[in-house]
Amino acid sequence: MSNSTATPLNEQRTVQQRVAALLEQMTLAEKIGQMSQRNASEGYAPEYLADGLRAGVIGSVLNVVDVDSVNELQRLAVEESRLGIPLMVGRDVIHGFKTIMPIPLGQAATWNPDVVRDGARVAAMEAATAGINWTFAPMIDISRDPRWGRIAESLGECVLLTSELAVAMVEGFQTDDLAATGSIAACAKHFAGYGTVESGRDYATTNIPETKLRNVYLRPFNAAVDAGVATLMTSFSDLNGIPATANDFILRQVLREEWGFDGFVVSDWDSIRQLQIHGLTANDKDSAFEAVAAGVDMEMAGDAYSKHLEELVMEERVDMDVIDQAVASILRAKFQLGLFENPYTDPAKLPAIANENAMQTARQAALESVVMLKNDNDVLPLAISSLESVAVIGPLADAPYQQLGTWIFDGDIDLSVTPMHAIHSLIGRDVDVRYVRAMENSRSKVSPSFDEAVEVAAGSDAVILFLGEESILSGEAHSRADISLPGDQAELVRRIRATGKPVVAVILAGRPLTLTNMVDEVDAILFAWHPGSMGGPAIADLLFGIESPSGKLPATFPRMVGQIPIYYSQKNSGKPPSWDKIAHIDDIDSRAPQTSLGMSAFHLDTPFTPLFPFGHGLSYARFDYQNLWTSAREVKFGGTLTIGVDLSNHSEVAAVEVVQLYVRDVVASVTRPVKELKGFRRVQLEPGQTVCVEFELHTDDLSFYGRDMRKTVEAGEFHVWIGGSSATELRTEFWIVGE
Ligand code: NOJ
Repeated sequence: MSNSTATPLNEQRTVQQRVAALLEQMTLAEKIGQMSQRNASEGYAPEYLADGLRAGVIGSVLNVVDVDSVNELQRLAVEESRLGIPLMVGRDVIHGFKTIMPIPLGQAATWNPDVVRDGARVAAMEAATAGINWTFAPMIDISRDPRWGRIAESLGECVLLTSELAVAMVEGFQTDDLAATGSIAACAKHFAGYGTVESGRDYATTNIPETKLRNVYLRPFNAAVDAGVATLMTSFSDLNGIPATANDFILRQVLREEWGFDGFVVSDWDSIRQLQIHGLTANDKDSAFEAVAAGVDMEMAGDAYSKHLEELVMEERVDMDVIDQAVASILRAKFQLGLFENPYTDPAKLPAIANENAMQTARQAALESVVMLKNDNDVLPLAISSLESVAVIGPLADAPYQQLGTWIFDGDIDLSVTPMHAIHSLIGRDVDVRYVRAMENSRSKVSPSFDEAVEVAAGSDAVILFLGEESILSGEAHSRADISLPGDQAELVRRIRATGKPVVAVILAGRPLTLTNMVDEVDAILFAWHPGSMGGPAIADLLFGIESPSGKLPATFPRMVGQIPIYYSQKNSGKPPSWDKIAHIDDIDSRAPQTSLGMSAFHLDTPFTPLFPFGHGLSYARFDYQNLWTSAREVKFGGTLTIGVDLSNHSEVAAVEVVQLYVRDVVASVTRPVKELKGFRRVQLEPGQTVCVEFELHTDDLSFYGRDMRKTVEAGEFHVWIGGSSATELRTEFWIVGE
């Protein structure tokens, strides 16, 4: 899908003509109305909106999800306003509507665009039954700070992984026909840079040099635009001194002029009026001016546009062309969505909510999202036949709401199948399953329940601990400075460990956690994120070996907060750390000269490596990579190289491995990361099987924005690795040659 191919040319012309014809008839008030979105959540709709809809001064509503109310709002807009323009009806359908998929970060751990696309498709069809025609997703802010609560909503730290999954989500929401029943407009957000807010505090400032902005933060948005995403949302954050909502550089120069985006841009909630709070403007009127001039087409929830745009046009501070362009882009989306022909929703024309396909999609996504971080002595999978009893302990074993994660406005808790429930169904006939919650919630402190948990653990053959974060600990405005297991969970782990029983931790969380204080206290860890409605059955299948884990980390797990930001695609620096160039704080002679220390880029009090690297994830199979090759040593500009490896499964277990290809541009006019993901593939291997896994690499895949801020590919040496994580050391080289 691309902007130019999404709608056939003749149809596109028709849309253009229809937009132009409609624009001609519109008053300024009606135009500004199209640029104004109103909160229609319960308590407001529809009475509060009726007058505005009849007057034709509301172009969109958000947060109304009752289909009768939505149809009534559409009726007021279509049948009772002068021009009968239908409404964009927006909602945050972030990882499911009623049926909830894993949080987006968990979906990213699947490294599976098909599963991600399917999840978005289910979400779109369910949301469409409520009359929603626009979701504020995908969220594609590159996130390299797990303190940031919104990392949960993101697709992780990697440009390529985020970009490919962003495209899959857009395709899932929109399909290739926005007008089809069950297609809804997507919204790539938050443009741009939000993921790098200072110290991970939500809404804080971002400072991103232009090369980094272009090479990292903007790239997933470029991919979404190329895939035909209908809309973009600005970020709340300040970007290099100009808040994103007033940032004409990204909104006009990059988005419109360089990328040719022809959808529309919506502000974030009240973010236009917040320009004043940022200190950019003195009042709402100036805020409206800055935003519209920068290219924000629609204002979400605020009233700066509706109150001040008319005056700004009258005073000739804002050109009518600017207004017309904004309105045209909004009308275009409405035509493309087929809203003029079909403004009303008949839920009977859509598949039932939470149907078998929806639940199966949620289950598959959850299954593939779980990352096995460690598995000492192959303690997992637990063999049902050799267990008489198992202790299931922890605050997140049977917490139907918590497993859904953040941003589940419409999620149906009754659809949640908890791990506890699923374990019972799977093994309850053969094994005595003993459940102790032990903690009221993930933040609880030591209590007498700990003693009960220890007693039950001591009397069981194995222990499964369900730990992590409740859903409220991540998401918007829920950043943490300490990202270890909250409350006294580490103490619970320590006490359970002392029983000497095999201990498996299943961690449900909205972000990477620092697990340093508990990682050695358990035999195995399954990191399950917030896995959604069907998290329980997926986890049970993995615990007992019905399925093998295949998830891989979409974000680096630091050892401690002080390492942040730590991510796989860091720059080398002039003094890269290595094990022989570091010193540990406990070993330093305080009178020794400074130069006897390592003198490299490391911390004195923690290893320079992460606890678990990006791309890491174990399997019940044993995979082995051999014979890395390239089809040629040299490739000319514009050429393609094939890179391959032999992947073997030296085990008795059939399983999927996510094969990852990394590249380093060794010498370039601006320094390049030590590794960049350039390809990945999920490969299914039978026991004993060896396959050759190949990737095609075009020289354009090696492009970057250089000193002149243009995309460039430079000749020279490249290192290339293939492996099962970003820590792979299986490497070879090739050269780009020519002018
Ligand atoms: C604010 C959030 O930043 C944004 O992501 C969301 O879509 C809007 N609110 C609407 O709820």
